[in-house]
Amino acid sequence: MAINSPLWGAELDHLRLDSTAPEKLAAFYRDAFAMTEEPLADGTTLLRSQNRRLIIGADGRAGAASGQPYSAFRFTDGARLEAYKAHLIAQGVNLMPCPTPLFAAGAFAVADPDGRQMTFGLVDVANNSDAMDHGDSADHPPGRLQHVVVATADLTAMMAFYENTLGFVPTDHVLRDDEDGGETLTAVFYRSTPEHHSFAMFLSDKARPDHHAYEASCWNDIRDWADHMAALEIKLWWGPGRHGPGNNLFFMVEDPDGYKVEISAELESMADTDPIRHWPHTERSLNLWGPGWMRA
Ligand SMILES: [Fe+2]
Repeated sequence: MAINSPLWGAELDHLRLDSTAPEKLAAFYRDAFAMTEEPLADGTTLLRSQNRRLIIGADGRAGAASGQPYSAFRFTDGARLEAYKAHLIAQGVNLMPCPTPLFAAGAFAVADPDGRQMTFGLVDVANNSDAMDHGDSADHPPGRLQHVVVATADLTAMMAFYENTLGFVPTDHVLRDDEDGGETLTAVFYRSTPEHHSFAMFLSDKARPDHHAYEASCWNDIRDWADHMAALEIKLWWGPGRHGPGNNLFFMVEDPDGYKVEISAELESMADTDPIRHWPHTERSLNLWGPGWMRA
């Protein structure tokens, strides 16, 4: 299979988390993930460091998906963004105004079946996280914002949207054996570059955020991030371990609102011709080293 998706090359740039206690949440990310904290004109807060940034806002929306109202993927150039926009318009997708202040003019958003927005755009040079000085980030191991994962009660509709409409490329499927002899899909990992996944979804009882992840460069970075968490008395919530799908080393922590955050390394790189792989719905698939986080 050649990768001819119009989404190909797009990377996760940032996401927004909403909280009823945004100041507390922002302070957590500032300290735990070594980011600087800056107020934005729209009342939200920008957290950023080298190759990672997120926006924290006040929780003003109702509904299960409101905790993480959008994820923002960047294209590398305007021609690709315009081609992608045309691809969505041709399918009759409703384009919405860009909700993030971090993208340049021309960005737009679409709503997924669970009501969460996916926004696509170009990095506004004035807000380019790579070009800015971010205080003490050099004292910490690298952590590039790399993937975001959601949970959903309607995997069928979500897959149709993310795969057929948006053009995410499926890498791995996780399947549960049913008592009647059939199989139920419980997780799908999607890529938009050769990296194993930039987005994934898990079957759950309701739509909710699942986690987002920062990719470090090696096992020693995982150690150093864990030591950093230890110095702040932040307990590891899951791991360290190694995922089956993606084969990445990881640990997760939980922020004050219960959002899960992952530090990862060694995420697998896929060839264009790799077919979809299948994993059993077991703890071992989710963590080859030990206990799994079973969402369904
Ligand atoms: Fe992850």
